[in-house]
Amino acid sequence: MTRIKTIGVLTSGGDAPGMNAAIRAVTRAAIYNGLRVMGIKRGYSGLVSNDIEEFSTKSVSNIIQHGGTILKTARCKEFATTEGRTAAYENMRAAGIDALVVIGGDGSLTGARIFAEEFDVPIVGLPGTIDNDLGGTDITIGYDTALNTIVEAVDKIRDTATSHERLFLVEVMGHMAGYLALNGAIASGAEAAIIPERETEIDQLGDLIHRGFRKSKSSAIVLVAENPETGGALGLARRIKEEFPEYDARVTILGHLQRGGSPTAADRILASRMGAEAIAALMAGQRNVMIGIRNGELVYTPLSKATNEKKLVKDTDIELVKTLSI
Ligand code: F6P
Repeated sequence: MTRIKTIGVLTSGGDAPGMNAAIRAVTRAAIYNGLRVMGIKRGYSGLVSNDIEEFSTKSVSNIIQHGGTILKTARCKEFATTEGRTAAYENMRAAGIDALVVIGGDGSLTGARIFAEEFDVPIVGLPGTIDNDLGGTDITIGYDTALNTIVEAVDKIRDTATSHERLFLVEVMGHMAGYLALNGAIASGAEAAIIPERETEIDQLGDLIHRGFRKSKSSAIVLVAENPETGGALGLARRIKEEFPEYDARVTILGHLQRGGSPTAADRILASRMGAEAIAALMAGQRNVMIGIRNGELVYTPLSKATNEKKLVKDTDIELVKTLSI
């Protein structure tokens, strides 16, 4: 095994608050341990097009508090092809990079796994996504900040919902996972969460309306996970109009505002711990693993497992929304 001297770091896929804290931690921990660091721009695109620059400790000064990613990010189509990955490998070697730290979500870490297998490159992944949909970790970098953003928005919508005695459907992101919707509902005291992991949406909504809204409440907020198959909150609103025309339902789609903003302390700490651990892992000879956190402890999971394992929402959390919405 060749000794790793130079590490490349990139952020890929959707940006997530805390990615900058992770870049900072990777860079500083690497330099602290005598390694060189190369910042790769726009995710895998920067590897394919050779947009790479050496980082110093100063390159990552004053970024821990900022959302987004100073490295910028992209979803790179060329990297999905063998030609693109070959160009990426050649550029990586030409820049003297021996190992990569990839910060991103499901798609980005799947790309990392394929690249690592194809070219025998040591890669450590960090889970950076607001969706919290990766296996091998209890939480992902960016999830806590997005959740807090959702709670702040729902608190505001609650004022209008109460004053007008309305039903609000608030659509949140999550890709195909319901974590943001479910835990956003618990944290904001919403009456229900409609998540892709459970039942048909209209059944859940009918249940909510018959259980609580009609009997004791004059307003309700339902958090709806985005879902291209059902049309998310807008699709649901159309169905409510048909099946429960007496309800004056309004839709708010929170959209990309959930991805921005200064990371919470929890996300900064998580990203800092994981970033430093990525360097420790590479120096200890680990390769093709994702750093995760389980019960407060950092753990390593093979990239293949982290990206393939379906993380299940907790039945008890679903029950909790129901119990507390009476
Ligand atoms: O994975 C993060 C995420 O924000 C998902 O929640 C959402 O489905 C997707 O990215 C949106 O991607 P884009 O910004 O490319 O439209």
